[in-house]
Amino acid sequence: MRWDPSRYAAFADDRGRPFHDLVAQVAWSADTREAPRRVVDLGCGPGALTATLAARWRSSRVVGIDSSAEMLASAGADPALADLPNLSFELGAIEDWTPGPTDDVVVTNAALQWVPSHVALLPRWLDAMPSGSWFAMQVPGNFGSPSHALMRSIGASGPWAPALDGVLRSDPVLDPAGYLGIMLDAGFVARAWETTYAQLLPGEDPVLDWVRGTGLRPALAALDAADPSGALTAEYVDRYRAALREAYQASAHGTVYPFRRVFAVGRKP
Ligand SMILES: C[S@@+](CC[C@H](N)C(=O)[O-])C[C@H]1O[C@@H](n2cnc3c(N)ncnc32)[C@H](O)[C@@H]1O
Repeated sequence: MRWDPSRYAAFADDRGRPFHDLVAQVAWSADTREAPRRVVDLGCGPGALTATLAARWRSSRVVGIDSSAEMLASAGADPALADLPNLSFELGAIEDWTPGPTDDVVVTNAALQWVPSHVALLPRWLDAMPSGSWFAMQVPGNFGSPSHALMRSIGASGPWAPALDGVLRSDPVLDPAGYLGIMLDAGFVARAWETTYAQLLPGEDPVLDWVRGTGLRPALAALDAADPSGALTAEYVDRYRAALREAYQASAHGTVYPFRRVFAVGRKP
C-alpha cells in the first residue's frame, strides 16, 4: 500500500503538533551521558519531524526508519534535511527492528497503529533497551470517532462491501492505561495520557482530505484493486463524503475535526 507524501503533508501543522507534545516529555538526563548516543524514529514518514530530533541532539546519531520508499524518497529530496549531518534514514519494517545497545531514545509518532503486532513487540523492545534510555510513543485513538465509524459502517453495506471486508480495523491501539501497564511491567518509570485536539481545518471537505492521507488509504487501495476503473471507489467516496459533511459541519471559521491521541513515555532506570 503506497503512501503519498504530498497528500500527507497537507495538514503538516496539525499532524506535527502531537509529535512536539510527545518529545517535550523526553527529559534526557545528562547525568550519565552528554547526549543520547543514538536516537531512532520508528515510522518516520517524510522526515521533517525526525529532523527536529537531529537539531535538538546535534551530537547524537539520529535515524528515521520507515517501510515506505515514497516517504523516504521525500525525506531524501527535502533540502532542509540535508544540513543535518547526524541525520539518516533507513528503509525497513518496524516489525523487524530490534533496539541496539546505544539506542538511548526511541520515538514513534502516529505509526504503531499500522503495526498489528506492536502490543506484543513493545515488551521485547523495552526489555532490550539500554538502561537510562527513553521510549516515547503516540498513536491516534480516534477509531471510534464519526470519521472512522462512518468509514466502516458505509463500507459494510453496498456494492463495495465484499472488497472492504476485513480491511478497516476498529481497535488497532490500546488506551493510555494499556500502554502504561506495558511500560511499568518492563520496569520503566512511565506516564501515559490522552489529548483530544480540536483541529480547525480549512476547505470544503477537510475531514475527507485528512483521512485520504492516512486512515482511508487501505479502503481506497482495496477498492481500486477490486475495480481498476475507479467507479466503485468514486461511488463509495461520494457516499462517505456526504456522511462526513453531516457529521462535521463547517462554520464561518472552518471545520472542527476533534482528534483523540494516546501518548506514553517512559525511562528505563
Ligand atoms: C501517519 S505516518 C507518520 C509519519 C511520521 N512519524 C509523522 O509523525 O509525521 C505513518 C508512517 O508509518 C509508516 N509505517 C507504517 N507501517 C510501517 C511498518 N510496518 N514499518 C515501518 N514503517 C511503517 C508509514 O510508511 C508512514 O510513513
